[in-house]
Amino acid sequence: MASLSPLLLSFSLLLLCSVRFTRSEPVQDRSALLSFFNQTPHEQRINWTLSTPTCNWVGVTCDANQSQVTELHLPGVGLVGPIPSGTLGRLSSLRVLSLRDNRLSGPIPDDLWNLPVLRSLYLQENELSGEISPSIGNLSRLSRLDLSENALTGPIPFSINSLTLLKGLRLQGNQLNGTLPSISISLQQFNVSDNKLNGSIPKSLSGFPVSAFAGNLDLCGSPLPPCNSTFFPPSPSPGPSSDEKPVEKPHKNKLSKGAIVAIAIGGAALLLVLLLLLLICCILPRIRGRQSGTATKGVGPPAPVAGVGARSGDTGMTSSSKDDMMVVGAGTSEAEKNRLVFVGKGAGYTFDLEDLLRASAEVLGKGSVGTSYKAVLEEGTTVVVKRLKDVVATRREFEQHMEEIGKVDHRNILPVRAYYFSKDEKLLVFDYVPTGSLSAMLHGSRGSGRSPLDWDSRMRVALAAGRGLAYLHKGPHLVHGNVKASNVLLRSDQEGAALSDFALHPLFGNSTPPSRSAGGYRAPEVVETRRPTFKSDVYSFGVLLLELLTGKAPNQASLGEEGIDLPRWVQSVVREEWTAEVFDVELMRYQNIEEEMVQLLQIAMACVATVPDARPDVAEVVRMMEEIVSRGPTEGEEGVRESSDDPSRGGRSGGTTPPTAPTP
Ligand SMILES: *[C@@H]1O[C@H](CO)[C@@H](O)[C@H](O)[C@H]1NC(C)=O
Ligand SMILES: *[C@@H]1O[C@H](CO)[C@@H](O)[C@H](O)[C@H]1NC(C)=O
Ligand SMILES: *[C@@H]1O[C@H](CO)[C@@H](O)[C@H](O)[C@H]1NC(C)=O
Ligand SMILES: *[C@@H]1O[C@H](CO)[C@@H](O)[C@H](O)[C@H]1NC(C)=O
Ligand SMILES: *[C@@H]1O[C@H](CO)[C@@H](O)[C@H](O)[C@H]1NC(C)=O
Ligand SMILES: *[C@@H]1O[C@H](CO)[C@@H](O)[C@H](O)[C@H]1NC(C)=O
Ligand SMILES: *[C@@H]1O[C@H](CO)[C@@H](O)[C@H](O)[C@H]1NC(C)=O
Repeated sequence: MASLSPLLLSFSLLLLCSVRFTRSEPVQDRSALLSFFNQTPHEQRINWTLSTPTCNWVGVTCDANQSQVTELHLPGVGLVGPIPSGTLGRLSSLRVLSLRDNRLSGPIPDDLWNLPVLRSLYLQENELSGEISPSIGNLSRLSRLDLSENALTGPIPFSINSLTLLKGLRLQGNQLNGTLPSISISLQQFNVSDNKLNGSIPKSLSGFPVSAFAGNLDLCGSPLPPCNSTFFPPSPSPGPSSDEKPVEKPHKNKLSKGAIVAIAIGGAALLLVLLLLLLICCILPRIRGRQSGTATKGVGPPAPVAGVGARSGDTGMTSSSKDDMMVVGAGTSEAEKNRLVFVGKGAGYTFDLEDLLRASAEVLGKGSVGTSYKAVLEEGTTVVVKRLKDVVATRREFEQHMEEIGKVDHRNILPVRAYYFSKDEKLLVFDYVPTGSLSAMLHGSRGSGRSPLDWDSRMRVALAAGRGLAYLHKGPHLVHGNVKASNVLLRSDQEGAALSDFALHPLFGNSTPPSRSAGGYRAPEVVETRRPTFKSDVYSFGVLLLELLTGKAPNQASLGEEGIDLPRWVQSVVREEWTAEVFDVELMRYQNIEEEMVQLLQIAMACVATVPDARPDVAEVVRMMEEIVSRGPTEGEEGVRESSDDPSRGGRSGGTTPPTAPTP
């Protein structure tokens, strides 16, 4: 157990320089090994001495030339303490590293994840802690990874999927948490038992035995019992898979009893005729509905919407045509229930509802219309699923509205890609925008490493949001109804930003509770009428501009006084001629922007006029903002009017140019 004395070590190090070897030596690897050896206490059994060639040391294997160390096996030699960084990570030709059954502790140093040709890494049965770095994805040659029986925490990084040659992954007996990433590589060995994982088991792993998953917090899905879906909580409505069976079984029973009776009384021929009749009655209108692409009228079943990709729904139905008829006859099709309907271009998505239910989901936020989830599908696609709450629209209304807003296609609008409607659940699917919202960017943990949004970016975002809104108003004549900073999604590309959650208010009817629309953005008249209008959108947009200028969230208590909103706060400060006082301190570092800020402030104040008719159109607002931008930072106040005489561009900005849909 005794470790080499430091004195002896330093003496040895001194010796190192003078020792001459007649044969070739892996000089650099030798020094890397020695510094590992010197920094890591161990038992005497490692008798690495300076007089012997490196390649003869216990546990060290070199290549044929003896120029590089290719393997290092030091199992159970009483290594204690952290693996020092800058040591083993320098063994650039290392193919096998085994330090199992020691008492190594602390985090795995980052440089181990950058060993270019490492094939096997065995660190099991130690006391290693910390997270598994996503840099693990850099070990492109790795085929065996065993980190089991340590004290590792945090998630299993998704970058594991970069390890295309990986065959064995053993992580059992740690404290890894979070969900299992969807793993697309084909593994032969896999064990994550005895961790703290939860969520669904990806399909690709369902072939491994139960014991590979045992002892976790809350894993579910094959080979373990099925999951309660994130989107279909068990209490109000069991998930569609478990919900279908109890509904269908009684039908089947009834039908088989009915059939027996029918056979006993009328005989099989009569039944056949009846069946045919029913088929004609129920299937034909469906086909017609499909052809015309519109919903059938009357009390019949809701027609399937044209162009749906409902693979899962279909498979549920093909089991027997009797079921089909029973279900159709009952008025609500079970197939419809399982149908994810893609609208607009659908962005070329190919997943179905089952994929969505299997996806690992993470709550992004609880908004005024419902909860948003980030769902990572097994094939790696990431989408946002919004679970709407308190929808009052009927199925027909919902479908028609979705078809309408599904057509909206503008680069500054985040399109609805798909929807799902059942009695208990209403879901919307959107593209995932990783950069996050303007709200997060403006207000998220100020001062702690968040890079402040500079003036040009703010102006670009304001213009992008304005153009999106102007398009909604002028093109499809839709009221957005929920303009606020958290619905402005920032994009790193040229487009700057996109507005999300547009035109959803009709789904909630007029009984919109006051808590629904975000307080600080609501135009005064909407408090009474509860019906958003084009002009109330302009008001909300004005508040958004004020938010960009002041850096203050509109319903923030930190406005100073209780019950004062952002427009009134700005008014009161400006009235006392402290105009400069209203601006965000983060903007103070930029030169020559005061003029522009004051101009934008004036536009914003016009938008938040109390009387709706006094507010400008969004198109007009966009035109004025474009003027500010084109006038540039150092131009004079007046005189540069040339740039403004292109109202067509300002007014219909984007409305005339069909944009390319953002790809997921
Ligand atoms: C180191 O020890 C092992 C066994 O303990 C022995 O076989 C080996 O010869 C030793 N090597 C040197 C260089 O002393
Ligand atoms: C041995 O060294 C030579 C030249 O230094 C090199 O070309 C060869 O690839 C090396 N062989 C191995 C197995 O490393
Ligand atoms: C992978 O290696 C490259 C180059 O060594 C490095 O720049 C990158 O950060 C590494 N990736 C990760 C995820 O650490
Ligand atoms: C995992 O555990 C860490 C603490 O070890 C905690 O901070 C983190 O939130 C956990 N993550 C999940 C997804 O539970
Ligand atoms: C997993 O557990 C964490 C913390 O307990 C929770 O936040 C998360 O929603 C869970 N995820 C799933 C898919 O159950
Ligand atoms: C997974 O590891 C646990 C704990 O070591 C063991 O009991 C179980 O048999 C292993 N299962 C598989 C499939 O390797
Ligand atoms: C699913 O829901 C059932 C009933 O509500 C509950 O008993 C069970 O623990 C849940 N399973 C999971 C994996 O959440």
